[in-house]
Amino acid sequence: MKSVTVVDHPLVQHKLTIMRDKETSTAGFRRLLREISLLLGYEVTRNLELTTKTIETPLQTMEAPTLEGKKLVFASVLRAGNGLLEGLLDLVPAARVAHVGLYRDHDTLQAVEYFFKAPSDLGDRLVIVVDPMLATANSAIAAIDMLKGRGATNLRFLCLLAAPEGIERFTAAHPDVPVFTASIDERLNEKGYIVPGLGDAGDRMYGTK
Ligand code: URA
Repeated sequence: MKSVTVVDHPLVQHKLTIMRDKETSTAGFRRLLREISLLLGYEVTRNLELTTKTIETPLQTMEAPTLEGKKLVFASVLRAGNGLLEGLLDLVPAARVAHVGLYRDHDTLQAVEYFFKAPSDLGDRLVIVVDPMLATANSAIAAIDMLKGRGATNLRFLCLLAAPEGIERFTAAHPDVPVFTASIDERLNEKGYIVPGLGDAGDRMYGTK
């Protein structure tokens, strides 16, 4: 069942505006991405299952809530996914990490695989796939294909910005994977960039071009 959540928290929207501004420095962009990923991470983990365990407080025994099941996995779509990953690991330090190496062929805009490393028991874990830009959705669809091919069945996709075209393609390909984003922008341009967008997230984050 198709599910798209726009995280409209005022702090998320405020930080996103500064990130979109082309005058924002590389250092500022990176810091904001880390901060915003904490807030997005809060939303994407909001309905994680809880169980209880018995603990001793200094005063008495209690049944206290604790996360159920195996540690979750953050799967970063390289390289821009790493910008979201760092903040998410501050939030859930015990999470496992998968890296999915995909680059976008500039002529065909298709995703090409060059690296994959993940925990072996993906089928037992919630896998949260992170990539800041859901543009054509080619990389996101390919990343989920790769993770499902290695056993993942319970997935969520977290990005910063999405294009309507990307959401359409992604949810058609993977209707079982809920999408979380800070904004759904106007459209994709002829080069596959999200507009108004924020430019190339990897370049903005790492000061490359
Ligand atoms: N990737 C980016 O970094 N930016 C876009 O606008 C689209 C894809």
